[in-house]
Amino acid sequence: MSTFLVTGGAGYIGSAVVRSLIESGHRVVVIDDLSTGKRAWIHPQATFVEGSICNDQDLERVFSLCRVDAVFHFAAKLLVEESVKQPVLYYETNVRGGIQLLAMMQKHSVHQMIFSSTAAVYGNTTDTVVTEQTETRPVNPYGWSKLMYERMLNDVSNSTQLRYVTLRYFNVTDVNPTHLIPAMVLTALGKRTQMQVFGTDYHTADGSAVRDYIHIDDLVDAHLRAYQHLASGGGNEIFNVGTGKGYTVLEMVAAAKRVTGIDFPVVVAGRRPGDPETIVASYGHIQSLLGWNPTYTIEDCIHKVWEAMRATN
Ligand code: UFG
Repeated sequence: MSTFLVTGGAGYIGSAVVRSLIESGHRVVVIDDLSTGKRAWIHPQATFVEGSICNDQDLERVFSLCRVDAVFHFAAKLLVEESVKQPVLYYETNVRGGIQLLAMMQKHSVHQMIFSSTAAVYGNTTDTVVTEQTETRPVNPYGWSKLMYERMLNDVSNSTQLRYVTLRYFNVTDVNPTHLIPAMVLTALGKRTQMQVFGTDYHTADGSAVRDYIHIDDLVDAHLRAYQHLASGGGNEIFNVGTGKGYTVLEMVAAAKRVTGIDFPVVVAGRRPGDPETIVASYGHIQSLLGWNPTYTIEDCIHKVWEAMRATN
């Protein structure tokens, strides 16, 4: 049995990983400030500290609870458009909070981290499918904040015992209402009068933006494999976590109408600030090193959100 600290363990993705760790027989401590996470999502068997990674006293409390074997670092601000409007908030949480966490890990001799990064580090890439070697050129403060932290992990690891795995998530199915799948589902449920398609003038098959949508359960599996890699002595790695398949927003709308059986109203709106045109993952690296493969379709992703939101809305 290992003991893990999960920052942001009350969030949608963090709590899913917590559940999986506990079900695998591990002990979990969660730190979350509940700014976006939900108390109801915290696993009853996890030890919970309500606090912020930006607050040293909160971090001290967490690390003094027990000896931690590894940190899963989810706590972050994660909305592209919000990051364009409030960059300071993003650098404060994602960079400064992350630095404080790293310093506290050093102080308490915790040397392993699985870090939640993002496809937003690639920005407007011209590569049809991005590999981990594709040039990183973020187009919004969110992407920059994650890329800066990736850089810090590299530097800290060069001078300490830190070993890390960075997972660059593509479009994970979650229930955040600003994200595409929840927005469509809320409209299908009648909670919104219409859903907006942000931009149909991109250079794509139908003019709407292309993304690579990944199911939460596949993402959780990637985290467990990432930890096994570190636990068995593996070195620092950066992995894309996506499916290798891109879908336009309009294709997603058609899929959502099929899955829900509802022909919900859709209108075309202007582009959303900070949005790249196309981003699709090559997942060959995580496949060959960790044996990870995506197993769910976009219909599965939509169905998962549909079921979750139908139960609570
Ligand atoms: N979109 C719409 N209408 C909506 C919501 C979204 O047309 O109501 C479009 C967006 O403009 C974008 C696509 O659907 O083209 C996907 O948008 P999301 O908001 O669902 O996700 P993002 O691509 O903006 O960002 C997400 C995560 C980031 C991550 C990124 C990786 O929020 O953390 O995927 O591609 F970095």
